[in-house]
Amino acid sequence: MEKKELINILLVEDEEFDVLRVRRTVSYYDNRIKILDVVSNGRAALELIKDHPDTYDVVILDYQISGGLKGEELITSIKNLDPFIQIIVITKMTINITNYDFANSLMRAGAYWYCTKYPGNIEEYIYQPTDFILSIFNAYEKKRLERYKLRSDKKLTQNIENLLEMKKIIGDSEPMKQLKENIEKYAKSDVNILINGASGTGKELVAWNIHLKSKRKYENFIPINCGSIPGELIESELFGHEKGSFTGATANKPGLFEVANHGTLFLDEVAELPLSAQVKLLRVLQDGEIEKIGRTGKINVDARIIAATNKNLANEVMNGKFREDLYYRLNVVPIDIIPLRKRGNDIIQLFNHFLDYFSEDMNVEPPKVDEQAYEILLNYKWPGNVRELRNVVQRLIINSNGIITAKDISNPMILRNHIIVKEETNFEDLYQGQVLPLKDMEKLFRIKYFKYVRSISNSDSSAAEKLGMAPSNFYRMCKELGIK
Ligand SMILES: Nc1ncnc2c1ncn2[C@@H]1O[C@H](COP(=O)(O)OP(=O)(O)OP(=O)(O)O)[C@@H](O)[C@H]1O
Ligand SMILES: [Mg+2]
Repeated sequence: MEKKELINILLVEDEEFDVLRVRRTVSYYDNRIKILDVVSNGRAALELIKDHPDTYDVVILDYQISGGLKGEELITSIKNLDPFIQIIVITKMTINITNYDFANSLMRAGAYWYCTKYPGNIEEYIYQPTDFILSIFNAYEKKRLERYKLRSDKKLTQNIENLLEMKKIIGDSEPMKQLKENIEKYAKSDVNILINGASGTGKELVAWNIHLKSKRKYENFIPINCGSIPGELIESELFGHEKGSFTGATANKPGLFEVANHGTLFLDEVAELPLSAQVKLLRVLQDGEIEKIGRTGKINVDARIIAATNKNLANEVMNGKFREDLYYRLNVVPIDIIPLRKRGNDIIQLFNHFLDYFSEDMNVEPPKVDEQAYEILLNYKWPGNVRELRNVVQRLIINSNGIITAKDISNPMILRNHIIVKEETNFEDLYQGQVLPLKDMEKLFRIKYFKYVRSISNSDSSAAEKLGMAPSNFYRMCKELGIK
């Protein structure tokens, strides 16, 4: 059995007679209740609590001590010093015990309980002893629970912080900074969100971040991929069913809406939702109630919806594949995630991040990376976006012997799509269809080409090298072309 701890009491009482009466009242339980200190005024009580933190569990406080800090003001000061200390107030008969305002103001100040002292002719007890002792035990229990709650709240917060670290969004290019700001902003509200982005851009990661920063963070985050569940099962998956409601329904099954209650439901590939399920989903979003298959009566649910798609949902609406009213319900706030190839140096940051992460995971030293290798990464189009980059890093580490070179990366086993996509040069596109003298056209071309080569190089000297020029010539030509 759990060992019962001693309950330490600080008694604030200025009449010797009442000090004795309190001592006698609790004396039956001197194995549990210990009057550690007795003081006769409020200041002395505060000093003691300040000098001996975490010492007193319960303060028994006479309401009418003479002069100085007392009453509600003293109660509040004690609670400010140590919010876990529980305070029991004892008052003289002269105070009308049926006075509701009096009791209320004590409780508001932070007292746990109060009682009216017995008349002076009763020398044995200050109050009916069983009640008095019980309220001390209860006060102590309350202190313990409040402490425990604080500790478990701290642990939960720690868990959330760990999760956020695991789900960290890497990258500080302008669009990613903007994205992170939006996440902070939208997490504070409870509106539905539609995330749009190509495959592997981080849609689920963004949804996780919104959830973990929202007030729903201690509740469930439930992802469901609407594209991977057969159409006829999706409704029972989302809304649940009762046992026997159809062949194969051998047990009651809660729907994901119920599981996500008070939390977040992530509807991935939402464009794949069959039209019949769309109707039902719309109704849930409108009414906040679900109809379980085979059950009469509705169930209230409160789940935040974050939907994601790599399709243009507005087009799907135009083509009659997605309900317009549902589209507006989901798309209260749109978030667009840009493809990886447009994030510039984030590519390198992500590459290094995954390099450290997987090296540690595989228990190897992170390999060194050649400058030219980085340039290939910057030039590559990343059709599979961050997910592809992640896989590339894993493959590289497995094949690495301590250093990653340009040759390693351009190996087709590593970058499977390593064909630098040739943007078809279309003169009409490039120069607005003008026909210019060759000299002017050459200049335009040079400006464009110089800018392009610089954009994919780590430094000007590396750009010069790519163009087969001495750096000094490169600078001169940039100047002539008016490129800063
Ligand atoms: N900015 C980022 N920082 C760190 N990791 C990222 C980032 N973006 C994506 N990832 C990681 O890349 C992988 C793919 O991301 P995620 O699953 O969120 O993408 P998605 O858009 O949902 O992809 P799909 O369309 O394939 O479902 C995950 O492992 C994710 O943690
Ligand atoms: Mg996804």
